[in-house]
Formats: sequence, structure tokens, C-alpha cells
Amino acid sequence: MKSCPILNIINVKAIYIRGHKGSLSSTNLKDIALQFRPSSLNWEELKMALRGVLLLLFGVLLCVNVHGFQAVPVGGNGTLQVGYYWRTCPQAERIVKEEVAKAVFSNYGLAAGLVRLHFHDCFVKGCDGSVLIDSTSNNVAEKDAPPNNPSLRGFEVIDNAKARLESLCSGVVSCADILAFAARDSVQFSGGFPYKVPAGRKDGLISHANETISLPPPTSNLSQLTQMFANKGLSQGEMITLSGAHTIGRSHCSSFSKRLYNFSSTVSQDPSLDPIYASQLKLQCPNSNISANSTVSMDPRTPILMDTSYYSGILAHRGLFTSDQTLLSNSSTAALVQQNARNWWLFQRKFVAAIIKMGQIDVLTGSQGEIRANCRRIN
Ligand code: HEM
Repeated sequence: MKSCPILNIINVKAIYIRGHKGSLSSTNLKDIALQFRPSSLNWEELKMALRGVLLLLFGVLLCVNVHGFQAVPVGGNGTLQVGYYWRTCPQAERIVKEEVAKAVFSNYGLAAGLVRLHFHDCFVKGCDGSVLIDSTSNNVAEKDAPPNNPSLRGFEVIDNAKARLESLCSGVVSCADILAFAARDSVQFSGGFPYKVPAGRKDGLISHANETISLPPPTSNLSQLTQMFANKGLSQGEMITLSGAHTIGRSHCSSFSKRLYNFSSTVSQDPSLDPIYASQLKLQCPNSNISANSTVSMDPRTPILMDTSYYSGILAHRGLFTSDQTLLSNSSTAALVQQNARNWWLFQRKFVAAIIKMGQIDVLTGSQGEIRANCRRIN
């Protein structure tokens, strides 16, 4: 039972829900299962029943995951491929998952950090690991541009996975792929659908702070967001679905404080923000004393779960950023917000499809780019 990945996921979720930082042992699951079992069943019978349920769950997840096992043409001179490292480094995905699990257990906010890291990688020069490169004395890299610094987190998780992979299969697994796997694992550990990541990305050779201009700011309105996602080949619907990642994680007060204190020349507080929510936010981010480190949960009710409450929040005028609340601003986008709010399964399916598509933006393949030995430096 210990080696079953689905059990591990359920176990991770159970540990999250109880707010308990434990290990991936089967004892936690056993405790929970025993607590809820019908009184007529002993542990052995319960295990049999659980196995049946898990087999069924596996079947359902396989049906849901329609993206598996094919090669995905991505332009340039190559394709991405599910199971790309199967021959060259068969442990690659398992090692990344272990490092993500380890990190998330010590700080579950890192799951959100890794999903955002993947997004910020893909939107700037494509998913080429350029966000991971450190600045040097003569170059300010993407990670030190204002949209990324100091808010991006999770770099050390990628470093740890890379170090293990280099000692196991040197020069094989790209940093861009490690990041795509880590984002997938983070979604899964947050209770989202599992999915297969087409891989085979190469790492880029360039990282410039000024190119982060292609990242949408939180002050964006609907047409700006739609255009910035269209620039990357993503539809308005995919933009709305991907924004659902804001159901996990945190924001620094500075990313939205203008909506609370300094909205316009006529009103200090954004009228599209629920006043009760605004006063709660003001307590967490007092105007007189906003420290650079102050943060709030973006989805205060369930900050570590990939659920639909981001969308119900928007419907209740509790979207944290202008870029969240603006999704209600026309009837067709509002209808999609409502649909995602009501239907978790549909949201998850759309999210998986959209994040897989996002992971293919302008990737380098074949002879392009390189496999970095250290994700922070070009070879
Ligand atoms: C639609 C346009 C988007 C805008 C304007 C936006 C903006 C932001 C901002 C300002 C923050 C808070 C940063 C901070 O102050 O700490 C944030 C956090 C976050 N964003 Fe977005 N974002 C967008 C789309 C996305 C997408 C497409 C994803 C992933 C698929 C994503 C995933 C996240 C996550 C997970 C966090 C929490 C990070 C953490 O806890 O460390 N965002 N976003």
C-alpha cells in the first residue's frame, strides 16, 4: 500500500486537512480510515474495500486524463513527449515528486510558489527555465524584475531536484522540465487532478529582467488580460481557468493595497470590492504600516486547496486583484466564472488542459538550447 501514488496523494490531502506536518507513512491514512469505517469491518476488510475504491479511482483518473501518452508537436524542430525520460532517466519524475512532497510538507505555500514559477517561466521567453537563472554582475535576470522579486518562491526545490538528477543521470533532465513536473505535482498535492506532462524542453540561454513586461500586472483589466494571454496563444476562457490557480497561495499587500487606500482621485477604496472583505484586508495590511513582507492568503477560506472558491469569491466581489474581479466585467466571462464556481470537475479538467497548453509556450526542443548543469547558471 505504501508504494501506491494515489494513496500518497490522499494521504497528503488528509495531512493537509488536519493541518498536520507528518511523513508519507500509511499510518495516517489508516488512522483516518479506521475513524470512519463501518463498525462491522476490521482493518483487513477495510483495506480490501479501500483497494477496490482506489482501483475504481485509478480507472476514473485514467479516463479523465485524455492527454496521456502522445507526442505533442510544439513548433520549432521537435515535439514534447509524455514519458520523455523513460529510457534516459527513468527516475526523473519520481525524484521531482519526492522533492516537491518534501518541500510542501515543510511549507505548503511552496506548492503555490511552484505553480506560479512555471507560469512566470512560460510567459517570458517560453517555458525554458529562464526564470531560474541568477543575475550576474553584468545582467539583471528575470527573477530580479519587480513582478518576480521578492514574490517568487520555490527556487530551492528545483535546485534540490536538479542536484539529485545530475548525480543520477548527468546532463539529461532540463530545468524547464523539472519546473513543469514540479508545478504538476504541486497542483496534485493541492488536491487538483493529476495529469501527464509532455516533456523534452531544453533550457534557454538568456534571461533579462526587462522581458518580464509580458507578465500581466494585477491591475490589468479584462481586455488587457485577454490580449496578454492571446499573445501567448491562450484563449480568454483558458485565461479565466488558469487564473483559478489563485485558489492557492498568498499575495504581498503591495500587490493590491492601491485598491484599499488609493484607488482613484474620487474614491479611496475600489467600489467593486466587497466592503467587509476590504475592511478585513485593511486589518492585515494597515496603510500606515505595510511591511514589504506582509502577505495575505488569496483564497482565505481554503488557501491550500485547488477548489472553486476562487470563483465563488469573485462572484461575492472578493477577488483580491483588479485582474481577478475584472473577470465579472462582461456577461460571457461572468458566465465562465459561474460555471467554474459551480462545477469543480469541469474546472479541474479545463485547468489541466490549459496548464498543459501553457507548458508548451515557445519551448526549445531538439538541438535548441541546452541542458543546464545548474538551473541558476548557463553552462
Ligand atoms: C491572469 C493574470 C494574472 C495576474 C495579473 C497574476 C498576478 C499575481 C500576483 C500579483 C500574485 C501575488 C504575488 C505576491 O504579491 O506575492 C499572484 C500570485 C499567484 N499566482 Fe498569479 N497572476 C495571474 C495569473 C496566474 C496564472 C495563470 C497562474 C498559474 C497557472 C498563477 C498562479 C499564481 C499563484 C499560485 C500565486 C500564489 C503564489 C505564492 O503563493 O507564492 N497566476 N499572481
